[in-house]
Amino acid sequence: MSRIAYVNGRYLPHKNASVHIEDRGYQFADGIYEVCEIHNSQIIDMGPHLDRLDRSLRELRINAPMQRAALIRILKEVITLNRVTNGLVYIQITRGVAPRDHYFPKSTTPSSLVVTAKHVNRKKWLEKGEQGIKVITTPENRWERVDIKSVSLLPNVLAKQKAKEAGANEAWFVDKDGFVTEGGSTNAWIVLNDGRLVTRPAEAGILRGITRAGVMKLAAKKAITVEERPFTVDEAKHAREAFCSSASGLVMPVTHIDDTIIGAGAPGELTQELRKTFHEASELTKL
Ligand code: PDD
Repeated sequence: MSRIAYVNGRYLPHKNASVHIEDRGYQFADGIYEVCEIHNSQIIDMGPHLDRLDRSLRELRINAPMQRAALIRILKEVITLNRVTNGLVYIQITRGVAPRDHYFPKSTTPSSLVVTAKHVNRKKWLEKGEQGIKVITTPENRWERVDIKSVSLLPNVLAKQKAKEAGANEAWFVDKDGFVTEGGSTNAWIVLNDGRLVTRPAEAGILRGITRAGVMKLAAKKAITVEERPFTVDEAKHAREAFCSSASGLVMPVTHIDDTIIGAGAPGELTQELRKTFHEASELTKL
């Protein structure tokens, strides 16, 4: 079955779907995005993702392309047309198409909207979770507004490629004081010896991950303490467990940080429990 993408008002075969060469997303990375998980034909935490999308638009003064109800109809349509029952839906909005000029275009310029959905191989996804991943550390070199989910992801792309070339899957950015900020496309967590979870505060140089918030909700339900504070690379290397959180990986166990083995070098017990029960604390939207 061929894939279908939504591009500026039209449902198109994915292989021919394109935007104009003067789209500001293409020329200036002047746009924002969201990724939501689709699990058993339900969109996970759609409300919080769309709230963050609205916030990113407001912070960058990009016009919303349409009302939320209309956007939700498109998301559901794209997911359904692509028959995705387990996978991801991607939303991207840019400041639109205009002759190349750094200044904002006229306020009447329509924003560009692209929505795609893709199937994720559940078996492979589960296997990855059972194996866990390796992370490397790399100096933080991003701008201060990483709370905005912008498509300007060059430092993230370079950091993740560096991880890949080092035989790892993720790179944790480290600020100038030696504290971990977050991963190239995930939030970073550690589990202390006494079972407390530690993650960096949402206000401090990270994306306010929706999965991160989900883990906090789940932890509260299970009476697990979460400490929101920065942690150093050294503390992480001595932690009992470590994991990454994101819509695509949910709770992804970390078995190595640089050359250091974490815990027993296999996914930690608490991490696995959070991974298996993650959806108990999430908001589910039927297609
Ligand atoms: N990544 N930090 C960064 C830099 C991210 O790009 C992401 C999401 C997260 C986790 O946020 P959430 O839990 O809301 O997915 C943290 C998405 C999945 C991506 O770029 O594909």
